Amino acid sequence: MSRKVTAVAPSNIALIKYWGTSDLERTLPFNPSLSMTLRECVSRTTVESIADPKDEVLVRVAGGSLQPASPAFSAGVRNHLDHLRSWAGVKDRFRVATENSFPMGAGMASSASGFAALALAVVAALDREISAATASVLARESGSGSAARSVMGGYVEWPSAGTEGAAVQVLPADHWDLRDVIAILDTTEKSVSSRAGHKLAETSPYFKPRQQQLPERLTEVRSSLQSRDFARLAPLVEEEAIDLHLIAMSSRPPIFYWRPATLIVLELVRAMRQGGVEVCATMDAGANVHVICTPEAEMAVVEALDVLPEVEGVIRDGVGSGPRMIDEPLF
Ligand code: DP6
Repeated sequence: MSRKVTAVAPSNIALIKYWGTSDLERTLPFNPSLSMTLRECVSRTTVESIADPKDEVLVRVAGGSLQPASPAFSAGVRNHLDHLRSWAGVKDRFRVATENSFPMGAGMASSASGFAALALAVVAALDREISAATASVLARESGSGSAARSVMGGYVEWPSAGTEGAAVQVLPADHWDLRDVIAILDTTEKSVSSRAGHKLAETSPYFKPRQQQLPERLTEVRSSLQSRDFARLAPLVEEEAIDLHLIAMSSRPPIFYWRPATLIVLELVRAMRQGGVEVCATMDAGANVHVICTPEAEMAVVEALDVLPEVEGVIRDGVGSGPRMIDEPLF
């Protein structure tokens, strides 16, 4: 029998991207990625084992009441629960309730934080003690590779050399207080999933050259984080983000995640940097722009984004210290 537990797990933003899988079934990437764990964009998930023959999946949207999740959402959760049951060697069925701190449908991916929170909550509900590396592998087995990085705080690399596909924290959150001002530009669901994008990545003629270049870029990004060297970090982060989209746009068939507003924000960020502001931009598989900056630059960034008519909203976030268990269940 399990107890009722609640986990809060953060989202993360990759500075070196995971794009392309070497093993789609096991969710293993071609290249290591490096991300910054976020603080404000989190998923909160409560689980409890139930006597019913079927898992029950509930979601809470925008502070409303808990509602049964859509069939597609429930299927993803049940699939991950099946993995976790098979890992634990149990047959328990669960009631799962989840919510995100960021608006659903704001074009912000919630799978990394959601699947990390689910894995951590189920493991705790079953009273299992696990290492951070095992938590990372269990989160990854949801099929969301970026979830492998959401079980740790600070700056996280995945997979780390010599592990069975687990992430490792390379620097703690208090090493460098970087901020992420997220410009929400497109609130529609993305037309091509990351999973489909990973599958197509190798069809791009630029995929191989990118792989050759990545070890050096990863080393450079890691070392500029270590030395808190924003001027060195900024162009690397932007090159990397553009590279991901270059691969997507040159895949066969091509995938376009950018919207015209994406370019407008990229130009604004570049102009601000040329004007001496410590700021750079990155994007995941979507149109929204994560504007990475120092605390000193944050207000100027927020104000500049706020006046752009193309920006539907701004989320102010920053590096966070990772997941936690809390005593505030959703049911
Ligand atoms: C572009 O397969 O982890 O965000 O669908 O969000 O789970 P989800 O995506 P996933 O791929 C992430 C791709 C990326 C880059 C990154 O986060 O490394």
